[in-house]
Amino acid sequence: MLAVIGGSGLAGLGQMNVIRREIARTPFGEPSGPLTFGEMNDVPMLFIARHGPGHIHAPHRINYRANVWALKQAGATDVLAVAAVGGIADNTGPGVIAVPDQIIDYTYGREHTFCDGSDRNVVHVDFTRPYSDELRDAIGRAAALVSEPVVAAGVYGATQGPRLETAAEIARIARDGATLVGMTGMPEAALARELTLRYAHLCVVSNWAAGCGNSINMISHENIDSTLDASIGRVQRIIAALALVYKDRP
Ligand code: HPA
Repeated sequence: MLAVIGGSGLAGLGQMNVIRREIARTPFGEPSGPLTFGEMNDVPMLFIARHGPGHIHAPHRINYRANVWALKQAGATDVLAVAAVGGIADNTGPGVIAVPDQIIDYTYGREHTFCDGSDRNVVHVDFTRPYSDELRDAIGRAAALVSEPVVAAGVYGATQGPRLETAAEIARIARDGATLVGMTGMPEAALARELTLRYAHLCVVSNWAAGCGNSINMISHENIDSTLDASIGRVQRIIAALALVYKDRP
């Protein structure tokens, strides 16, 4: 089953027929909010808002383990994670939708593994290619179905937040090779891998990252909000098309 984790600006799936909502319990505490079970284009689908109802959880306070565990427990096999990001590379300006293929993790102090209890053996999961190429390809096909251009690769730099970065931090992250920067991509992606979920990011660039483009001196929150508002309909169309791609899968 396909699950969608909604990020900033995506509190629900407009085209989903909602069947029921459920508060999940996990060994790692409570997820950000209820799981919404439903269907889109006759394909069963699951949704959770990463920041919770009313956007109450800051990026460093999200219970990523509970969210990912709850999705797995509810039967998810594939996770499309929608996330607002800053753009660093020339081809990732505001309004761009991108499907990165790599991650660099700059976060700290987050519960980042399921393998830290005495009752679970440590597993060093392979994370060479952090995203599912199968799911990335499916997103690419879905975007093409609805004629939405997407940047089909990129490197997601995951920062701690909740503050935005300094220009020097972005310059360093850019030298490292990141083309996008966001606060929620990790440990979510690694936790999904630990539970053998296929996981991919659908990133919506809401602003130029600090020191880039028109964010040379500061980042405007009004611009972030208006860009997200303008882009979220496109994200919803891609997700609805993804349901069709899943429907046609053998
Ligand atoms: N930096 C980090 N996270 C973000 C940004 C940014 O510029 N924009 C949206 N999420």
